[in-house]
Amino acid sequence: MKTHNWNDFISFSTEKKVSLLNRNDRPYHCLLAQQFDRSFLDSLYHLTNVIRAISKSKQGNLYLQSTLPHKKAMLYFMQPSTRTYLSFRTACQILGIQTSDVRDSSISSEVKGESNEDTLRTFSSYFDFIIMRHPEEGIAERAAWVLENSDRTVPVLNAGSGKDQHPTQALLDIYTLRRSFENFGGLKDKTIILAGDLLRGRTVRSLAQMLTHFDGIKLILSSPEKFKMRNDVIDLLKMSSVEVIESDKFKEHLPEADAIYMTRVQDEHDTEGFKSERSLPDFSLTEADLKNLKEHTAIMHPLPRRNELDPAIDNDPRAKYWRQERNGMWSRAALMLMIANKDSEVLNYWNEICRQVNHTAKALPRKRQL
Ligand code: NCD
Repeated sequence: MKTHNWNDFISFSTEKKVSLLNRNDRPYHCLLAQQFDRSFLDSLYHLTNVIRAISKSKQGNLYLQSTLPHKKAMLYFMQPSTRTYLSFRTACQILGIQTSDVRDSSISSEVKGESNEDTLRTFSSYFDFIIMRHPEEGIAERAAWVLENSDRTVPVLNAGSGKDQHPTQALLDIYTLRRSFENFGGLKDKTIILAGDLLRGRTVRSLAQMLTHFDGIKLILSSPEKFKMRNDVIDLLKMSSVEVIESDKFKEHLPEADAIYMTRVQDEHDTEGFKSERSLPDFSLTEADLKNLKEHTAIMHPLPRRNELDPAIDNDPRAKYWRQERNGMWSRAALMLMIANKDSEVLNYWNEICRQVNHTAKALPRKRQL
């Protein structure tokens, strides 16, 4: 990236960008869903399960905290966030990483007229990871480019870029789907509905792209016409093995779904003069709908929710969104370990523990059915 000017960089193909954002065939900056291939997703899934198992004991927790205590992370969140912010922060705490945050541009020198580029360079002077959420699409890419062209490059992790991408949410969503289908043959050959505001929902845009790594997926994209998934993602899906169906008849598809991923109207992205409704009753899931679902259907939502997901569903065993939220912490901890190339060390620690206590094969988080 160092040798490229910005205009060249943004005009590169996704493949070329990915090759510049990755190091040694794994993500270094984590900006795009397309950076994650199947082998990385498999490794991340296994490592996430191992971290969860290690953290069950006090000794294990102390070990995990000793993996990256020499690192510091900046949480730069220029849009509201509860889960993504907290799960990244607790992921850092799990690994011993110290965190600081800037969550309000009015308290940063940007109000004095400092450019975003200079703010980011300043963060890189003090921190080893920059985790950022920003309303502007492409700003995380710009951040990575700025740092690559400075004398101190640190990884940039995209925690939500405008209405474009939310790759780490997609990682935890894939993890949650795989966990949910562990006893149902894995994620392969599953029918998944993505419902709601697919036009501006960055979570579904990243998730749809990541699902292309799994065989036999049928993806039902269910939204009102005006909130249809944009063509860039549709084209990518059509080039993959995913079967894509676009439909505005959400309820009709419920009986065939193995997973239903609900989203809220992303009205914070309404441009002037365009005021969308706050909820979409025809793209909502109510308690009455539960009888139409399969016994194992996973109900997911990146949260926060509005009316599209009835709280009366919360205690149904098929509701996975609270687990999904917690999985964000484990998946993000695993991701940061992999970026810091500490994953082998943690896997060795776990293997040694297993050897010492002579766990039965059953008790181990083995590579599960994928
Ligand atoms: C999502 C987001 O910010 O894009 N939330 C999240 O990160 N968990 C979805 C949303 O806000 O609707």
